[in-house]
Amino acid sequence: MPTGSRELVVLLPGDGIGPEVAEQARQVLDVLAPEVEIEERLIGGAAIRATGTPLPDETRDACLAATAVLKGPVGDPEFDAADVRPEQGLLALRAALDTYAHLRPAVLDQVDVLIVRELVGGLYFGEHGVREDGTVYDTCEYHPRQVERIAHRAFRLAQARDRRLTSVDKANVLETSRLWRRVVNELAPGYPDVQVEHMLVDNAAMQLATSPEQFDVLVTENMFGDILSDLAAAMTGGLGLAPSASLSDGGPGIFEPVHGSAPDIAGRGVANPTAMLRSTALLLEHGLGRREGAEALVRAIEAAIVRAPTADLGGSATTSEFGAAVREQLSIDDRAGAPYGG
Ligand code: NAD
Ligand code: IPM
Ligand code: MN
Repeated sequence: MPTGSRELVVLLPGDGIGPEVAEQARQVLDVLAPEVEIEERLIGGAAIRATGTPLPDETRDACLAATAVLKGPVGDPEFDAADVRPEQGLLALRAALDTYAHLRPAVLDQVDVLIVRELVGGLYFGEHGVREDGTVYDTCEYHPRQVERIAHRAFRLAQARDRRLTSVDKANVLETSRLWRRVVNELAPGYPDVQVEHMLVDNAAMQLATSPEQFDVLVTENMFGDILSDLAAAMTGGLGLAPSASLSDGGPGIFEPVHGSAPDIAGRGVANPTAMLRSTALLLEHGLGRREGAEALVRAIEAAIVRAPTADLGGSATTSEFGAAVREQLSIDDRAGAPYGG
């Protein structure tokens, strides 16, 4: 945690469209939280090119000392066949900060689902390797305590919303899913106001695609959450809009878009910065405790989506034009007497 009252945001622009959307986030923070210090560090492919490693010690230490981390996507086709990959830097950062609770809200019209994804366990972090006969393996592993802490978090989040929790697993096949289901059932009596249901992951994908409005909070393991949250994003306007918050117990959180580095449009200045800016709003609220600033930013983004839509939304605004529309709306709000607060 930071010393004294100095608040520090570490900004990790990342790869592909990352630096393009990160620049808009930086400019918005300059408006909404000018006294917060912003330090930029390398991660992902950019870090491999500069230092040989996707999460340099210096970046990890800066993030550990930060109030919050604002991160662009990592990943570059240049490293597709390499032993050292940009994505390893992201996984190592999540592990170093122990940000086990990954919150991915998906909201549009009647749909308001919060996906709570376990982020530092399961298939991503289990034993993996190659056997002598050439068999390659990744193992899905969960300790009961890992399931307990994410389940507690999801129950508490549900209590603050519509008090409905859907736990998603594959308990008809997987031991880890049976553990998951047992732990959720054991904790449920401690949250009598929350209505719990269990759903198998294949059905959950179908239900998300056909009637996403039925869900309130959905809690699931790492890999299932990765896949289902892209689907939830697609159901609520697309990847360009979907933000996330990765939270630990008291340490700095990581705030990043759900989308990747979008190599197909990188370098053209046409990426939608909404997901990054909505992640910045989550950072303002959960990382810096500035609820009013977060709400002002959310309103300004809504206005910019209408006034200056980017190509993925059927419009023609560039990344920087969209960012300018957001800042313009913030200054209109400010002049109208809705201060951002501290
Ligand atoms: P992607 O999310 O980068 O792109 C999928 C599609 O969505 C593409 O057509 C892309 O142009 C579009 N898209 C994504 N974000 C957009 C935006 N802000 N505005 C407009 N269009 C947008 O997924 P991918 O192509 O499968 O992955 C590319 C790379 O990103 C891979 O290396 C992957 O590992 C990495 N990745 C990183 C993160 C992360 O850092 N959190 C997340 C997902 C993927
Ligand atoms: C995400 C990404 C990452 C994940 C990759 C890049 C490691 O897809 O943040 O959703 O799978 O968690
Ligand atoms: Mn993903």
